[in-house]
Amino acid sequence: MRAVRLPPPAPVDNLRLTTLPLPPERDGWVRIRVEAFGLNRSELKLRLGLSVGVTFPRVPGIEAAGTVDAAPAGSGLVPGQKVVAMMGDMGRTYDGGYAEYTSVPLSQVIPVDTDLPWEVLGALPEMVQTGYGSLTVGLALGPGQSVLIRGGTSSVGLAAAALATWRDATVLSTTRRPDRLALLKEHGVYHPCSTPVKSRPLYASCTRTVSTPPSTSSARRPRRPRGPARPRRSRRAEQGDARAGHAPLAAGQRADGDAVSGAGPARAHTA
Ligand SMILES: NC(=O)c1ccc[n+]([C@@H]2O[C@H](COP(=O)([O-])OP(=O)(O)OC[C@H]3O[C@@H](n4cnc5c(N)ncnc54)[C@H](OP(=O)(O)O)[C@@H]3O)[C@@H](O)[C@H]2O)c1
Repeated sequence: MRAVRLPPPAPVDNLRLTTLPLPPERDGWVRIRVEAFGLNRSELKLRLGLSVGVTFPRVPGIEAAGTVDAAPAGSGLVPGQKVVAMMGDMGRTYDGGYAEYTSVPLSQVIPVDTDLPWEVLGALPEMVQTGYGSLTVGLALGPGQSVLIRGGTSSVGLAAAALATWRDATVLSTTRRPDRLALLKEHGVYHPCSTPVKSRPLYASCTRTVSTPPSTSSARRPRRPRGPARPRRSRRAEQGDARAGHAPLAAGQRADGDAVSGAGPARAHTA
């Protein structure tokens, strides 16, 4: 099969198209015929040698979309079925999506039923799970609540805006470019805000009073789930967090570094 392989970390010219054996069938693993894969920022970091725990040579690619080529008995997957795969050390400790075939643990495979073109589907897994996870696991965003998305024009920001609107929340999104405010509006953002590149605080133009749009749902506004009591922190400590980049309510951002900070723009290459 054709694959892009990286020897040890090196300049981009060292990403070479090469021929490799088909990944062998393995117990508990699914071999996917790759139709498209996303290009992610974490793969740039991998190539530059900034990723921890990666072994080389390596076929990069932390996500892929395609069809099942071989699956373990009893997995429920059948050859030809459309699937996407992502994360779980894919393209880091075992070969990833930059190839005609990739083999990944069954747990990383998600069956999909869609007519989207491959190049669109290939761009979605990382981006959508990042936006969705930020809103659900990260924020427990519910109907009637508001969310501020910094970097709203990013692929993750636009996905998060669509998903938050879908959850009947009010979306505020920022861009540093006033000419992109209309784009945010077109994507369902109720309050597009422009933030000058070096403004402090970051959300300067969002500090006006925000009205909530009429709800499209009859659901009552839920209370935020109460977690265990947390020690109060001084305003100075909170400001320190913001300066260090731990800004609140920023979809598409995660604290645990390389494994998830990865994805770049939502572009997909067909394999
Ligand atoms: N894409 C994924 O699958 C994925 C997965 C996990 C994590 N992430 C993380 O999520 C973030 C967005 O990723 P993306 O791939 O969606 O990015 P992207 O599509 O490349 O979007 C980048 C946008 O972010 C805004 N931006 C850039 N630098 C900024 C800065 N210093 N301050 C404020 N805004 C800035 C710019 O919008 P304006 O010019 O309009 O201001 C720029 O167009 C990144 O931090 C990325 O590492 C992405």
